[in-house]
Amino acid sequence: MSSQPSAPKRRLTIPDLRKLKAAGEKVAMVTAYDATMARLVDEGGADAILVGDSLGMVFQGHDSTLPVTLEHMIYHSAAVRRGLSRSRGRAHLTVDMPFGSYQASADEAVKSAMRLVAEGGAEAVKLEGGADYADVIRRIVRAGVPVMGHIGLTPQSVHKMGGYLVQGKDSEKARRLLRDARSLEEAGCFAVVLECIPAELARVITGQLGILTIGIGAGPHCDGQVLVVNDLLGVDGSFQPKFVKRYAELAGTVAAAVGGYAAEVKQGTFPGEEHSFHSSTLRLVPTHDAERPDDAQVVGAPV
Ligand code: KIV
Repeated sequence: MSSQPSAPKRRLTIPDLRKLKAAGEKVAMVTAYDATMARLVDEGGADAILVGDSLGMVFQGHDSTLPVTLEHMIYHSAAVRRGLSRSRGRAHLTVDMPFGSYQASADEAVKSAMRLVAEGGAEAVKLEGGADYADVIRRIVRAGVPVMGHIGLTPQSVHKMGGYLVQGKDSEKARRLLRDARSLEEAGCFAVVLECIPAELARVITGQLGILTIGIGAGPHCDGQVLVVNDLLGVDGSFQPKFVKRYAELAGTVAAAVGGYAAEVKQGTFPGEEHSFHSSTLRLVPTHDAERPDDAQVVGAPV
């Protein structure tokens, strides 16, 4: 009996994601920044993958997402796309538009979004901002690129917000966020990320929108949830904001594995016989160079 590799599953499309909302099934979204992790996340069962500009913090080591460029996003998106092409999962791929790639003009925003699709393999783009970005979103959608909005805590506006703070905590700010969410739907977004807002507000927004709401720090009533993969896996033991649940503790696992490896290298117990290559036919002829008399010893005896 031949063992054929199982056929890849059909990838989820935006209409499929909409059907999940209609059916009351939650959408599980996770970030990924490289091919290997994208495949693991995809085959692990995520419905959607986000190449988030959070890569500026968790991958590049910056204090904010502001230094991330369009070229960086295209590079990581293309890597993730290659990972997905070798994976048997079904996740849809959205890619963040980084700071400076869409704010200056709608023309520039359209060009940036098209590069993320054409060169990065994105199926949709995400951008931060509310009603102020409705025209930009209309133009991107008109160019054929689906857009996910992002309101609440918008990390690209960290200086304007005065820090990474929960948003929409008083009635006036909550009403503004509700208006922003409606504007994003009217502008043609297929989904909106609600980041770090009260669960009560996220519930109202989710109830009033026909499009998907994807929450992070926005409570359980959204249509889906998104987490940064490094947070979900516990890669950074020192970082655990309230909204993060760790489903693994990889920081400890990695430290123990590398410690074990280093100890065995020092003891000479790694590599063992089972990790070594042998050849019965190999002959190493010692060189007899008068000027380098020690070469024979350096080359060593035939194996
Ligand atoms: O950049 C990112 O990873 C994000 C999610 C946290 C929503 O925008």
